[in-house]
Amino acid sequence: DRSLLGLKELSRDEIESILNRAAHWEAQKEKLVPVLESHFVANMFFENSTRTRFSFEMAEKRLGAQVLNFTAAASSVEKGESIYDTVRTLESMGIDAGVIRLKPSGVLQQLAQKVNVPLVNAGDGNNEHPTQALLDLYTMRKAFGELKGLRVSIIGDILHSRVARSNLWALQKFGADVRFCAPQTMQAPELAEHAPYVGLEEAIDADVVMMLRVQLERHKHGLITSAEDYREHYGLTEERASRLKPSTIIMHPAPVNRNVEVDDAVVESAASRIFPQMANGVPIRMAVMERAMKL
Ligand code: CP
Repeated sequence: DRSLLGLKELSRDEIESILNRAAHWEAQKEKLVPVLESHFVANMFFENSTRTRFSFEMAEKRLGAQVLNFTAAASSVEKGESIYDTVRTLESMGIDAGVIRLKPSGVLQQLAQKVNVPLVNAGDGNNEHPTQALLDLYTMRKAFGELKGLRVSIIGDILHSRVARSNLWALQKFGADVRFCAPQTMQAPELAEHAPYVGLEEAIDADVVMMLRVQLERHKHGLITSAEDYREHYGLTEERASRLKPSTIIMHPAPVNRNVEVDDAVVESAASRIFPQMANGVPIRMAVMERAMKL
């Protein structure tokens, strides 16, 4: 199957082969290698994005694909057209693959069963964000050589995080030790059987400290705490960052709420891999699009 709907169902070998292929693309000196020259891909974002949308477009263009960009706000979705009819419309015009980001969870699985082109998940609700986790694993592997035995703490808004879920499923396939840390209101109880929730002091004693964005747009009743209160109890402040092991790396999928999840000075500190994560998104998405479309 050339679709990439999530990492929960993807084998360790398949994940590894995507990471290895991304390393090939990262090492490639030529910016344009048109192996997907005669292929058409539609990027269909029904929810806003900067990193994912542009790094998919960058990846697709570097492989020479013809790129169609769809944005819900400028489409007939505004007239009430459904997600299904939108994807079927683009499919009937002859696209070879679709990259799709959706607000609700679960819709993508149903959609993939009804269309014939490969679909690549660019984030669906709080379910999965597989290419983000792939670039995260790639970033960790670059820093530490291997994933087995790595202690990875995922800190923050676990409840709403597709990034946390995709990382959990993938990292555990490689034998990493995943822990969560979150205020009560941001915990996902169904994940507790897969990884323990620990306090912040225990969480920052790790090889990888992955901070998550507080997803204000998904909190139905608003944040219980203020931004200052969140920073004080769960933020990676300069003081906490100064106590990390010298080998610990700091990650965040971004966008970062600076001085809430991570202090301003920590975002671009030596231990931070936040901007390298964004750079790594391009070779990862090149590998994913090649897998989706190349004969
Ligand atoms: N990390 C991430 O998915 O960012 P965007 O929402 O900007 O794509």
